[in-house]
Amino acid sequence: MLRTENVTMQFGGLTAVSGFSITVNEREIVGLIGPNGAGKTTVFNMITGMYAPTKGRIIFNGHELQGRRPDKITACGIARTFQNIRLFHGLSVLDNVLVACNLRERPGLFESVFHLPAYQKREKAAREKAFELLEAVGLAGYAGDDAVSLPYGKQRRLEIVRALATEPRLLLLDEPAAGMNPQESAELMNFITEIRSRFNIAVLLIEHHMQVVMGICERLYVLDYGITIAEGAPDDIRKNKKVIDAYLGVEDTSAGGTRA
Ligand SMILES: Nc1ncnc2c1ncn2[C@@H]1O[C@H](COP(=O)(O)OP(=O)(O)O)[C@@H](O)[C@H]1O
Ligand SMILES: [Mg+2]
Repeated sequence: MLRTENVTMQFGGLTAVSGFSITVNEREIVGLIGPNGAGKTTVFNMITGMYAPTKGRIIFNGHELQGRRPDKITACGIARTFQNIRLFHGLSVLDNVLVACNLRERPGLFESVFHLPAYQKREKAAREKAFELLEAVGLAGYAGDDAVSLPYGKQRRLEIVRALATEPRLLLLDEPAAGMNPQESAELMNFITEIRSRFNIAVLLIEHHMQVVMGICERLYVLDYGITIAEGAPDDIRKNKKVIDAYLGVEDTSAGGTRA
């Protein structure tokens, strides 16, 4: 479904990602790991069109994506969440999801200004869809609450639900368990496998909690200083010498791989 071919991103003299090639198949959960500064978020930024790669190709369902605008890429079926939660402040939980539903089905300006019947009908359908999504993930009871009043773990879920509202085939999650305690991260991982089955999506997951990634990913890619140092099944990655070395000096990998 997704394939990148030798994707490279340079910022001035710094090569953040070098010759990165990955495949993600339908309904697969794939992990992208590596110490801080390894280039993981940069990979997401290239796939979602926030950065145009310096070199290489990104192919999604047969379409070349590199250099396309983020909204076009969303429309192709790729959605993401961010390393730092980005919810709309001052909007309710339901409205946060609704905004994303409207990204998919955008009414014409004329229609929306005059609240024509077609617009009202679509708006109602969008509300229903947003509410159903919240129900599906157990957040319906918070629909009217201010999004940022939710506890942290629920805000993370809401961000994921909002991404799902754009009806992606591929969901990119950037450190969704950051800042969570072990129990919360375990719950989140169950949640991710649940939504994979329920919505038939593939997931590409950046995560520092090793337990977490090893537990749910079918395959992993490991980046270090922008270079892919290993790829394969979790059991092979765990034993890989280069991977162990890259994480050396990291006392507790669950706290995020800051180099000593
Ligand atoms: N917009 C940018 N401009 C300059 N340097 C950047 C930019 N984005 C990321 N970098 C650099 O690229 C490297 C990889 O960053 P990042 O992809 O955020 O790493 P990770 O997500 O693995 O922690 C870092 O050295 C970072 O400082
Ligand atoms: Mg990052």
